[in-house]
Amino acid sequence: MIGVSGRYLYIGLLKAEEIAESFGTPVYVYDKEVVVSNYKELVESIGYRDLEVMYACKANNNVEILKTLRDLGSGLDAVSPWEALLGLKLGFRREKILFTGNNVADEEMKFVRGELGVLVNVDSVSQLRRYGRLFPETEVSIRINPGIGAGHHEYAVTGGVTKFGIYLNQLEQVKTLVRDYRLRVVGVHTHIGSGILDAEPFLEAAKVLIGVASQFTSVEFLDIGGGFGIPYKSGEKPLDLQYLGRKLAELVEGFSMRYGHVKLRVEPGRFIVGNAGVLLVRVVDVKEVEVSGLKKVFVGVDSGMNHLIRPALYGAHHEVIAVSKADWPKTVRADVVGNICESGDVLAIGAELPEVEEGDVLAIMNAGAYGYSMSSNYNLRPRPPEVVVYGSEVKLTRRRETFEDLLSTSLEV
Ligand code: LLP
Repeated sequence: MIGVSGRYLYIGLLKAEEIAESFGTPVYVYDKEVVVSNYKELVESIGYRDLEVMYACKANNNVEILKTLRDLGSGLDAVSPWEALLGLKLGFRREKILFTGNNVADEEMKFVRGELGVLVNVDSVSQLRRYGRLFPETEVSIRINPGIGAGHHEYAVTGGVTKFGIYLNQLEQVKTLVRDYRLRVVGVHTHIGSGILDAEPFLEAAKVLIGVASQFTSVEFLDIGGGFGIPYKSGEKPLDLQYLGRKLAELVEGFSMRYGHVKLRVEPGRFIVGNAGVLLVRVVDVKEVEVSGLKKVFVGVDSGMNHLIRPALYGAHHEVIAVSKADWPKTVRADVVGNICESGDVLAIGAELPEVEEGDVLAIMNAGAYGYSMSSNYNLRPRPPEVVVYGSEVKLTRRRETFEDLLSTSLEV
């Protein structure tokens, strides 16, 4: 559980402030219990009897979290050869990993299929042709672009007119290639976007997917991808997962009755880890200025867009909580800004905060998905450590980078 009690923000049974003291700031902190309960909620909501959750590890590839999900029986959605490799290394079953690349080079397919033995989910006609040449008479999965897209930002929409997937009017080409190379299409996949809070686009896409799947005779699974949104703002309506799950199960049940049994796969990333993580940062500077007679406050912290790029890249909203002043009246409206040399380096715009001062710790909430995994060394700054909390236990699972780490790939220093 991550939540406020009295003055304090707690992560599991621990005060966020104390974690910040022990491990320093900035630091990513994840609550394992939240990961487990999100996973269970998803499985319970989708009542289909043969469901496989394929965790989208691009959202968060923390090894402790991956092991937790592996132990729960999760499979893995891998979008690079390295994600697939990491999954295998951590003991995810080979047949429970699906490689869904985009603009995939032959070398990558040779490695993923040829060396790792992982099923390839093909994203284009060109890739299918190259796959067929490399691996004739094998199994393959195809990613369909159903012409329906949704997402929290235009960059997070992948269905419709985007670079992703095989378009519906290319299906004849697919069939010809499948025949020519004697491939077996065992999976039909789609992923329409990310951060979707409305059930309908998923259901519309699932119907299209079913239409496509019914044209192949060897289909073993339907994969509707990820994209299940979570509320970031207070008062935002969550996705009705019960409804979506029930409707999806009905659709796939119907398909199974007509065309033979198939598994249903889903690839959640954000839903599993988004609300399970926070980024703890420390206030290092408070700048109060007057602009055209109006007061403007910049709360400067020891992190920034290099550690959490979502606000800068998508204008994404993350709540900010002063971890030891959580119940103080919120009298200040401030932009929480980082230490990177860009004006777009924001973590929150117009955050409602209590009176904060240098030294206070702030929690950037719901930072478990696409936080660390999208971080960088911009401005030659190290990435923060990652800590996993489980009840009253706390464990460092990835150390803070050092100056030596930053230079480790430079050949001559
Ligand atoms: N499956 C495929 C093939 C994907 O490309 C993705 C995400 C997922 C599953 C998982 O989507 P999720 O359940 O997490 O929404 N960086 C953006 C999100 C980009 C998502 C990319 N693909 C953000 O921070 O909002």
